[in-house]
Amino acid sequence: MSSTQQYREQSKEKLVIFDTTLRDGEQSPGASMTKDEKIRIAKALEKMRVDVIEAGFAISSQGDFEAVQAIANTITESRICSLSRAVRGDIERAAEALKGANAGRIHTFIATSPIHMKHKLQMEPDQVLEQAVGAVKIARGLIDDVEFSLEDASRTEFDFMCRITEAVINAGAGTINLPDTVGYADPAEYGSMIRRLLNTVPNADKAIFSVHCHNDLGLAVANSLNAVQAGARQVECTINGLGERAGNASLEELVMAIRTRRDVFPVTTDIDTVHIVPTSRLVSSITGFPVQPNKAIVGANAFAHESGIHQDGILKFRETYEIMKAEDVGWSTNRLTLGKLSGRAAFAARLEELGISFDSKEEFGEAFTRFKELADKKREIFDEDLQALVSDVQLGTQGDALTLIDLEVLSKTGQSPLAKIGIRYKDKDHSAEASGDGAVDAIFNAIEKLVNSETKLQLYSVNAVTQGTDSQGGVTVRLEKAGRIINGQGADTDILLASAKAYLNALTLMRNPGRLHPQLGGV
Ligand code: KIV
Ligand code: ZN
Repeated sequence: MSSTQQYREQSKEKLVIFDTTLRDGEQSPGASMTKDEKIRIAKALEKMRVDVIEAGFAISSQGDFEAVQAIANTITESRICSLSRAVRGDIERAAEALKGANAGRIHTFIATSPIHMKHKLQMEPDQVLEQAVGAVKIARGLIDDVEFSLEDASRTEFDFMCRITEAVINAGAGTINLPDTVGYADPAEYGSMIRRLLNTVPNADKAIFSVHCHNDLGLAVANSLNAVQAGARQVECTINGLGERAGNASLEELVMAIRTRRDVFPVTTDIDTVHIVPTSRLVSSITGFPVQPNKAIVGANAFAHESGIHQDGILKFRETYEIMKAEDVGWSTNRLTLGKLSGRAAFAARLEELGISFDSKEEFGEAFTRFKELADKKREIFDEDLQALVSDVQLGTQGDALTLIDLEVLSKTGQSPLAKIGIRYKDKDHSAEASGDGAVDAIFNAIEKLVNSETKLQLYSVNAVTQGTDSQGGVTVRLEKAGRIINGQGADTDILLASAKAYLNALTLMRNPGRLHPQLGGV
């Protein structure tokens, strides 16, 4: 960048990057994460210099409360936020979880569209306004940074939107968020809504206007960018576009659009983009949501040039076909981490760099043993291998975990495969055998003989954790029970072992109590 360009960048307004992977992202069916996993993701987001991390919805469950609290106590560089409905109990719980934060924010919300007010809340607009103002005042009594969201703003009547916005700013909200909750907006319409609101609300200059777009029509990033052109100065987004239904606006696409087209956007972000790809992989491995190969920025093909003509152009002059550099988003980070000869110190140091810590020496010891076993089977151990291994150890050492201790599978042409399985539960060993349509089916049937979980298998998928034929297979198993959906992950160089681990991990997670969904009616 030339010095004139640098000057222009410095004089641009800052766009606040608000990441909600740990809250809205976790609302994707099956994407629930453990407290330790959330802390790892929060550390990666902090490293990337995300401004605000929405760590969860504190009232929704004891687990969510503890995760928000642990993240608030750990992260120092990013602001930590907890969601709360516009009711005293939620707001006080959020404040309690955020007590240890260096910088905290309460994000309170209520629906404002006619359809939500009438059918979901069964409230009159004036009651909604009164509740919104009351909630912001309660929150401001507990913390000095309060964000207010008008849920379903894109379908809210404009005059009401102005009234409520003005009132909550007067009550002390510093950020006003205008979500396109159902992904219904069109970019031009959404941008003009933001512009008109900024020009109409008399105290608009006292708050930052924020956008939060869902991707039901594939327009979340376009809508957010148009809103930024219109004056929004905070965008809410998630890694890999994870989120409720079709997901939220993707952080990596927003940030790279703003950076690559700095000639078009009047803002700049503080994001350290080289951490984008490693964070994307971390989120994918923890949630079991693979990244599609052609996904912008973080997909495996995003910088791959297949055709001869393109390759020729790139070799002659890179910019002929590349508008961004792969290394700027972290593709060329040297991911080769450890090998067979690496000792405890090197292992511990790499884990620390990855933001991984263990609750006990036993857990660390178990992880090191697993690492050595893996290094015997696989010459090169990458960060992704470590991430997969750590999730498994952290979950496996929980007191009520179902742990695989033994597996034998007999598979012969023309015969039904037979699986014999041994599992440990609360220090007792159990075994069973079963046949099935295939080897994986036989394994799951054998587990079910012991557990009888009454769950339904919704999805089974295998992806290579890294490249090469010695790669670990990363298996995701999605189970459903009484409307609750859980993803379990397992990784191993043997995909049958990975499948058994994934199934057992999903069953272990299914035993944890469920969470309250923030957007259900009846506040
Ligand atoms: O989509 C939405 O409206 C939300 C709010 C709770 C901010 O997630
Ligand atoms: Zn949302």
